Amino acid sequence: MTRAVSLIHVGLGLIGGTALGILREQQARWARDFGVTLTFRSFIDSSGGVACDEEGGYSSTTIDRLIAARASGVKVFQAAPEIGLTPRTAGEALDVALSQGPAIVIDCAAGTRTGALAAKAVERGAGAVFSNKAPLSLPANDSVAATLWSQAGARGLMRYETTCGAGLPVISTLRALLDSGDRVISISGALSGTLGAIFADVAAGSAFSEAVRSAKERGYTEPDPRDDLSGLDVARKALILARTIAMSIDLDDIQVESLVPSELAAASVEDFMAGIPMADAEIAKRSSEAVSSGMTLKYVASIQSGESVTVGIRPVATGTVLGSLQGPENVITIRTERYDAYPLTVAGPGAGAAVTAAGVVADVLSLATMLKEH
Ligand SMILES: NC(=O)c1ccc[n+]([C@@H]2O[C@H](COP(=O)([O-])OP(=O)(O)OC[C@H]3O[C@@H](n4cnc5c(N)ncnc54)[C@H](OP(=O)(O)O)[C@@H]3O)[C@@H](O)[C@H]2O)c1
Repeated sequence: MTRAVSLIHVGLGLIGGTALGILREQQARWARDFGVTLTFRSFIDSSGGVACDEEGGYSSTTIDRLIAARASGVKVFQAAPEIGLTPRTAGEALDVALSQGPAIVIDCAAGTRTGALAAKAVERGAGAVFSNKAPLSLPANDSVAATLWSQAGARGLMRYETTCGAGLPVISTLRALLDSGDRVISISGALSGTLGAIFADVAAGSAFSEAVRSAKERGYTEPDPRDDLSGLDVARKALILARTIAMSIDLDDIQVESLVPSELAAASVEDFMAGIPMADAEIAKRSSEAVSSGMTLKYVASIQSGESVTVGIRPVATGTVLGSLQGPENVITIRTERYDAYPLTVAGPGAGAAVTAAGVVADVLSLATMLKEH
C-alpha cells in the first residue's frame, strides 16, 4: 500500500523557498512516475507555524497567499489569521502535522534551534532533510545530535546532502563507498567558495585584504566576512564529513586556523575591513614560499579517518585538482582502499539557491520513496 507523505517546511528563506517551488513543480510528475504523493502539510519560520489537518493538506491558493505574505515581510504566525489559518507555535504545528501519517521535516533554517523539531519527528518515525548544518554540528552527547546521527545511514530517516558542498554529490558518494564495503582513508578539500575565491585572488597577486574586499563586493562573503574567515563554517562541514565516515568527534576536537586577526575579533565590520591589511604580510610570505616550491595556498579541510580533522591554510601542488581551483567552486577528494592511487574527486559549485534546493529536493524524494511503503 502507498500513502501520501506530508511535508513540513521549516525555514522559508532562499533555500527553503526555492525548494518549495521545485517540489510544487515536480509534485504531479513524482505522483505519476514514482508513485510518490506529496501533501503540503505545515510551514514554519522563525515566528511560529501553521499546519493543516485536512486530508489533502494546503491548497495551492493558500500556499501562494503564505508566500506572498512572507515576500511582503509578514511572517507565518502573523500572516495566518488573515489567510484564515490558525497560528501555532512551531512545536504545535509539528504535532498536528505528525498526526497525519508519514511525514518529512525539511530543515532549511539557520541555527541549532530547529534540530529539536527534526529529532522529535525522527523519533516518531518521520524523515528529516537538512540544508542547515547547525543541528548536525551539535556535540555528540547532545540528545538532538545523537537522535539525528543515529539515522544517518542508507536506511535511516535523515538525509543531509546539501550541508557539505551544496548540491554536489558528496555525502551520497561517501555513503555508496561505505555501503559497498570500501574504507575511507582520508577526505580533503576546499569546502568554502568564499575562501576559494579569496585564495584564487591571492595566487593571482592580490593582497589578502584586497581579495577579502573584492569577495565582499562580489557578494561571496557573509555580511560580516569574519563569519567566513573564522573557518567555523568549514569546520562544521568537516565535522559532518568526519561523522559520516563514523568518526566520533566534536567541533572542539577540530584544529581550526582562523584568518581573523585576534585584534579585530570584536571590532565593528567597518573597523574590521579597515584593519584587515594587518594580515597581508604574513599571507603574502606564506604565498610566496608556496609559489617557490611549485605550490599555491588554499584553505583546506583535511580528515584523516580515525585520526584527526584540521582546517586551515595549506600549500597545495598546482597540478592537482585542488591546486588548480580558480574561483568559488568546491572540490572534495576522497581516498579509499579502492580509490587509492587515483583518489575520487567531486568538484563544482558549492553554494547557490538552485543547486542547493535541488539537492534538498532529491533528499526529499529519497526519503519519500522509502516512507510511502511503510
Ligand atoms: N545559500 C546557500 O547557498 C546554502 C548552501 C548550502 C546550505 N545552506 C544552508 O541552508 C540554510 C538556509 O539558507 P538560506 O540561504 O535559505 O538562509 P535564509 O534565506 O537566511 O533563510 C533562513 C530561514 O530560516 C528561518 N529560521 C531561522 N531560525 C529559525 C527557527 N528557529 N525556526 C524556524 N525557522 C527559522 C528564517 O525564518 P525568518 O524568515 O522568519 O527569519 C528563514 O526563513 C542555512 O542553514 C544555510 O547555511 C545554504
